Amino acid sequence: MINHPFLCLVPILLIIAQSAEGCYTSIFAFGDSLTDNGNLLALSAPRIIHQGRLPNGETYFHHPTGRCCDGRLIVDFLAQQFGLPIPPPYTEVSKEMTMDIRAGVNFAVAGARALDTDFYDKIGIIDPVTNDTLRVQLDWFKHMLPSICGPEKGKFAFLQAPSPTKSK
Ligand SMILES: *[C@@H]1O[C@H](CO)[C@@H](O)[C@H](O)[C@H]1NC(C)=O
Repeated sequence: MINHPFLCLVPILLIIAQSAEGCYTSIFAFGDSLTDNGNLLALSAPRIIHQGRLPNGETYFHHPTGRCCDGRLIVDFLAQQFGLPIPPPYTEVSKEMTMDIRAGVNFAVAGARALDTDFYDKIGIIDPVTNDTLRVQLDWFKHMLPSICGPEKGKFAFLQAPSPTKSK
């Protein structure tokens, strides 16, 4: 991941403030390896992904979680600082359809690019790591919006988001 030439997607944290006291109630995270807490690992063959092996994860979680880090990421520290649960990876949420997503979801995928895959296809660059670009992550988020803030809100149901596709 570290040598990947397109690791340029700056993590974007969308923090939704709701209460009048200025507290934060949710964190929705987008980005790449600086923010991914398990999505690429869930979408890939684990043996080829370094974040699926120690020492990644050893100092805090005591097992590899998919983070490109031996401890927590900035998004984890932010969540804990705000008194929120660490936002679960989207791949976990989309597998367990009953998870409570009101406190947020982490959509980041290590190696993700900001520009669409089409752009790279046209210039003949194939991404061997992931095609889950920023647009793809935002689409996942958009599909989840009814569960987050629509009439179904609070039922913890996650009905509409597409399953992420596993890469070979
Ligand atoms: C990304 O998409 C291209 C075609 O647009 C494909 O050749 C490549 O294998 C895909 N990469 C992954 C990781 O799925």
